[in-house]
Amino acid sequence: MEYIQVQGGIPLQGKVRIQGSKNAALPVLAATLLTEGESRIGNCPKISDVYHMENLLRCLGCRVCRERGALRVDTAGVCVKLMPREAICSMRSSVFLLGALLGRCGEVILDYPGGCVIGKRPIDMHLSALEQMGARFRLTDTGVCGYTRGLHGAEICLSFPSVGVTENIIMAAVTAKGDTVIRGAAAEPEICTLCDYLVCCGAGIEGAGTDKIHIHGVSSLHGADFSIDSDRIVAGTYLLACTGTGGACFLENAPVLQMGAVIHAAEQMGALCDLSDKGLYVQSMGKRPCINRLTTCVYPGFPTDLQSVALAVLCRNRQKCVVEEQIFENRFRVVPALSSMGADIRIADAHKAEIYGCERLHGAKVKAEELRGGAALVVAALMADGLSVIYGTEYIYRGYENICRDLQELGARIVSV
Ligand code: UD1
Repeated sequence: MEYIQVQGGIPLQGKVRIQGSKNAALPVLAATLLTEGESRIGNCPKISDVYHMENLLRCLGCRVCRERGALRVDTAGVCVKLMPREAICSMRSSVFLLGALLGRCGEVILDYPGGCVIGKRPIDMHLSALEQMGARFRLTDTGVCGYTRGLHGAEICLSFPSVGVTENIIMAAVTAKGDTVIRGAAAEPEICTLCDYLVCCGAGIEGAGTDKIHIHGVSSLHGADFSIDSDRIVAGTYLLACTGTGGACFLENAPVLQMGAVIHAAEQMGALCDLSDKGLYVQSMGKRPCINRLTTCVYPGFPTDLQSVALAVLCRNRQKCVVEEQIFENRFRVVPALSSMGADIRIADAHKAEIYGCERLHGAKVKAEELRGGAALVVAALMADGLSVIYGTEYIYRGYENICRDLQELGARIVSV
């Protein structure tokens, strides 16, 4: 069984380049299905979720090939086919195929999407939004079949600014008949990236990055040459790791303009941050953090994807700290593993944990159960005295190209075995 071994207690020092964004690359790759022709998507991270999406595109008749960091996707031969269950169920992002395939082919057959077990993660809002645009669905025990005689524009109000639902509506709307308005839309940077790509392909979209997005349907889209931003969650992970270990690092290409809330939290935890268009320089004094509350929120608030990593750093907080999780109801799965490393954390309810800071963490054998919780265990191991072994590495590789290589570049004693 593969594992990651970490000799902790060493402050991170040096420079690392931040990989391309997972959550931006996946919807953009799905959106290539809406175009006729070839797209070149640069800076696509080499992670298992992207490999799964490549396979799904191939299954649907696309020609996909890698050219260094870029993916070339030729969608000339797209048609609706049964897709491998394993690839669909292994990631949440397969849900984007609903909007993309209904838009391109008027039909979709999909097993229920999987992804990290961080909450119930239903797809009701996706289906309801697409129904408002003229799609009809039949649900089975294992999946969903959808069809449409032609998507049309609609005025859709979201009861919660879901990232995936906003992206799915945008995909369905860009080639639908007429205009679509999304009220209560998500404003995450990944929405802007998707819209930027689609606009490069000829789509008419206004308001991306705000809570009201207006899409003017066009009859067809062409391919485009496009590059994905660096990953704000990976950059945030290394920022918090540097803060927790008392290090000094330069995170090259970190998308600093998307990282306001995380940078603010790291500063509250004792880091000094210097932002530039080349990246983010972090220097930590190595003192124990001292904050009393951290709350996750939709963008531009503190991202739920970094809550577990922050929790790891806050294990050494000097006072009681309440961590509130507002987005998912199962994000505290990492707590027992952190406790086995010496943390004192009490889960008050599904959305609230209380940390009673401890002086030091110690190394332990632990198991990742989902992607960001796994990254949190790596960060805890870097901070801890002694040796740690982390199992469940397959979860971590879903989002981090090579976390061991990156952290080795920052001087960590970490190996993948
Ligand atoms: C995306 C990100 C994920 C991030 C999350 C929140 C990708 C591939 N994943 O996930 O990393 O943590 O945004 O920033 O971009 N919900 C429903 N019904 C639905 C859809 C969502 O109830 O049909 C609920 C979810 O259970 C959750 C909340 O809405 O409680 C937010 O989920 P959403 O914003 O949709 O997250 P994802 O798009 O799945």
